[in-house]
Amino acid sequence: MSFDLSVMSSKNIIVAVTGGIAAYKSAILVRRLKDYGFNVRVVMTQGAQAFITPLTFQALSGNTVHTELLDTEAESGMGHIELARWADLILVAPASCDTMAKFAAGLADDLLSTLYLASKAPVWVAPAMNQQMWAAKATQRNLNTLVDDGVHVIMPNAGSQACGDTGLGRMPEPEALAAQVQQYFHQAQRAIAEKFGLLAGKRVVITAGPTREAIDPVRYISNHSTGKMGFAIAAACYAAGAQVTLLAGPVSLDTPNGVERINVSSAIQMLEQSLALLDQGCDIFIATAAVADYRVAQVAEHKIKKAGDELDVSLVKNPDIVATIAQQQQRPFMVGFAAETRNIEEYATGKLLVKKLDMIACNDVSRSDIGFASDQNAMTVFFAQQYKLARRELEKAPKQEIAQQLVEAIHDALQHHKTPV
Ligand code: PMT
Repeated sequence: MSFDLSVMSSKNIIVAVTGGIAAYKSAILVRRLKDYGFNVRVVMTQGAQAFITPLTFQALSGNTVHTELLDTEAESGMGHIELARWADLILVAPASCDTMAKFAAGLADDLLSTLYLASKAPVWVAPAMNQQMWAAKATQRNLNTLVDDGVHVIMPNAGSQACGDTGLGRMPEPEALAAQVQQYFHQAQRAIAEKFGLLAGKRVVITAGPTREAIDPVRYISNHSTGKMGFAIAAACYAAGAQVTLLAGPVSLDTPNGVERINVSSAIQMLEQSLALLDQGCDIFIATAAVADYRVAQVAEHKIKKAGDELDVSLVKNPDIVATIAQQQQRPFMVGFAAETRNIEEYATGKLLVKKLDMIACNDVSRSDIGFASDQNAMTVFFAQQYKLARRELEKAPKQEIAQQLVEAIHDALQHHKTPV
């Protein structure tokens, strides 16, 4: 699964480590949160420092570790109030029963308990302790108070404990904790995008990658498309609040987070799936796939044996997917692509008209630094006349950036249309 790291990199997490043997897991937790792209600062109680050193967390988080409430040096760097304001989420892991008691009682006698009171950020606690201490009435009473106060509790797991007991009290694995934090921010981001994103509420179908046209059971005709451009557009549409289905030819890319993916091989399969998706409802159809224009007339049932110096393979024209969809009665907003090596503008605008598209994005695939397989692209976008936008240049940039600019271009075109979809 892949994630939108740009969202996570703007989020600040305080990992608060309290005294308990599970503190060693917090080192991995910090590492995983950093892997997701979060900014992490670590706060340690005195008890935590008996189990693991601040230096470990400094190295892993890339930030000075905060241990003291009344330390003039620390306060001149990032004071406790500033730290409380900095946090988008405070994750206390492991949370000892002493810390839970302090939170429940509203004490403010060290840095962590003060932060708890001073911060508006959501607080998550992952209690970890001996099973008997967890079961103790006072701990359960404090737990209920914390839940009533709006703290999110990640319940401990059962199992064998470092002290030799067996029961509830083990901190969940750090990978699972980090994934929960990531999901929390991802869902929050998604809720905003679905309401306010440029393509909020739109259903988008995107074709991507090459098609493969079989010659016999072991050979095929295809092209150099890797699917990178189409996958980047799928991710950008999803980030803009759309519900996205990606019709992918044979490529080796991970599916963008939140995107539904349907794998196809040939042009005929891609067309069949496109028409089926149209029936389910589609507002915008984006055709980035490099569809083979021709397929083999008669696919051999068995592997063709080597014989003679020449082999004739007869080809027949494939249906044009984007033009077929554009002719349907319930027609979505149609975005085509054009891969050209010469007369780029002339050919691209020709395709816009002939295929009856609303918009076409053309790239020069004679260049090795953009287009097929490259991580970068540069495009000229042409719009059908009724959109009053004429053309737009997208300067060379990573395909992710080009994809975002295309989303903006689609949004703008929809705004300029007389009867927007
Ligand atoms: O996948 P990457 O490695 O990232 O490379 C990206 C890309 C270069 C493949 C992409 O940016 C691109 O240009 N895609 C369109 C490639 C192409 O087939 O262009 P075309 O000019 O042959 O086709 C014009 C349009 O008709 C395209 O939208 C195509 O999807 C569509 N088409 C073509 C033939 C066909 N039988 N059915 C179609 O729908």
